[in-house]
Amino acid sequence: MADNTTNPLPRPRPEGIIPEDEVTRTENRWLIIMLGGLGVMMAAIVVTGATHALHPPSNVETIDPVMLHLGGEFAESNLGAAAEPDGSVTVRMIAEQYSFVPDCVQVPADTPVRFRITSPDVIHGFLLPVPGYVAEVRATFSRPGDYNVPCNEFCSYGHHGMWARVKVAPREQFPELSPVGRTSCAKQ
Ligand code: CUA
Repeated sequence: MADNTTNPLPRPRPEGIIPEDEVTRTENRWLIIMLGGLGVMMAAIVVTGATHALHPPSNVETIDPVMLHLGGEFAESNLGAAAEPDGSVTVRMIAEQYSFVPDCVQVPADTPVRFRITSPDVIHGFLLPVPGYVAEVRATFSRPGDYNVPCNEFCSYGHHGMWARVKVAPREQFPELSPVGRTSCAKQ
């Protein structure tokens, strides 16, 4: 028979009912486990943010999402990789349902690369392009290779097929960026 000191019922506790203090102990144990899990996740965010520069783009720059194709920085002729006078590379991309334009860019290794990306429609993932905003992230790739970049923000039916590729070539092999090479990974 269970003890009646914690029994809130006016009658004896039926068999099989777990006493309140035991329920409280179990709930507290779970609460500690959950808080521990939360702590681990928060620590992972802080550590990756500090060591891998994984954080939301910090610049707040707006753009008219309806007009961005028609002129200015994100006009078609400006998209893709462009060499800057200081030797760095700027990549401009548009993320739209359901592709990145261009969907593959070539950049040299060991060179500062600045990605500038925006969206005319909904929120996509990569650098989290939000319509009306320009996201910007700087990266330097130390290892040549192909990097697949999925859209990691659900953006409707075609989301799963939305990928971009960044092809990092060794710095000395990096081709001069022809108008075609700027927006394509095809061999030239
Ligand atoms: Cu674009 Cu998901």
